Amino acid sequence: MKILIINGPNLNALGKREPEIYGDLTLEAMNDQLKIFAEARNLEVEFFQSNFEGEIINKIQAADNFNGLIINPGALTHYSLALRDALASLNIPKIEVHLSNIFAREDFRHQSVTASVCSGQISGLGIKSYGLALDFFTL
Ligand code: DQA
Repeated sequence: MKILIINGPNLNALGKREPEIYGDLTLEAMNDQLKIFAEARNLEVEFFQSNFEGEIINKIQAADNFNGLIINPGALTHYSLALRDALASLNIPKIEVHLSNIFAREDFRHQSVTASVCSGQISGLGIKSYGLALDFFTL
C-alpha cells in the first residue's frame, strides 16, 4: 500500500516554529520516524511539503495512484475552498491530521473546510496524529 503524506504551509518550519504548540521535532525528524512506523506496517510512504496552495492542489490532482492520503493542510484547513475541491475529487481514503488540537485554540481554527471531504480527522496528538492515520490504512 502506498500512502502519500502532505504537509501544508509553515510545516517545513517545525522544530523552530512555536515549539510550545507544535513540539521541537523538525519535519525531517518527524518524517524519519513516520517512515520507520509505516515500514513496520508494510506501508510505503511518500512525503510532500509545500508552502504554496497551488502546488499542493497539483500534487492532490496527481495522487490517484496512491492507496491513501494523509494531509495536514496547516492554515489552509480553515479557509481554502480550492483545496477542499481538490480533495473532494480525489477518490481514495483521505485523513486530515493536525499536530495541535484545533478545537482548543483560537476560534478561527475551530472550523475546517477540508475535514468534511475527508474520511476522518485526527487532531491534537502531535506526531501520533499521523501515526494513527497510518494505522487506519492497516485495519
Ligand atoms: C495545524 C493547525 C493549523 O491551525 C495551523 O495553521 C498549522 C498547523 C496543526 O498541525 O496543528 O499550520 O494544522
